[in-house]
Amino acid sequence: MRKVTLALPMVPEMEIEASKTAMAIAESMRMSPDRIDEVRMAVVEACINALEHSHASAKEVFVTFEVLGGQDPETLRITVRDTGVGFSPGEIEEPSIQEKLKSARKRGWGLKIIRGLMDDVEIRSGSEGTTVVMSKMR
Ligand SMILES: Nc1ncnc2c1ncn2[C@@H]1O[C@H](COP(=O)(O)OP(=O)(O)OP(=O)(O)O)[C@@H](O)[C@H]1O
Ligand SMILES: [Mg+2]
Repeated sequence: MRKVTLALPMVPEMEIEASKTAMAIAESMRMSPDRIDEVRMAVVEACINALEHSHASAKEVFVTFEVLGGQDPETLRITVRDTGVGFSPGEIEEPSIQEKLKSARKRGWGLKIIRGLMDDVEIRSGSEGTTVVMSKMR
């Protein structure tokens, strides 16, 4: 299996289903347990963002898993796509721990966490929705 897409309902805990699939595929690639855990957390953050922020009227989030590269090292590419309102990734302020300690808004870490956990992250967003493409080598 080199590519699979899940159409997940916009309900709480769909992120768990997405992360289970991510872990199973990463395991099948023989990714190390630490890296599998990093993939799991990134998938959870991206899916929760789609649930919380997309305000999509369509009630599905599409999560695609692709194993790239015929030989070692393989790369796992995961795409999380919603059809919601979109946002401007370039306008999201980079969170800093000093600012967060002073601020009433403690959140805003998800995208930074995703970027830290995955090797490569690309976000495309507009009025048709948001697509987060994230990859990690085995
Ligand atoms: N799929 C999405 N659709 C629309 N807006 C999004 C989406 N993903 C992220 N955003 C916007 O980007 C902001 C930053 O996302 P990020 O995950 O970094 O923080 P958060 O979700 O607000 O908080 P946290 O992830 O720490 O719980 C969000 O507050 C939201 O405005
Ligand atoms: Mg978030």
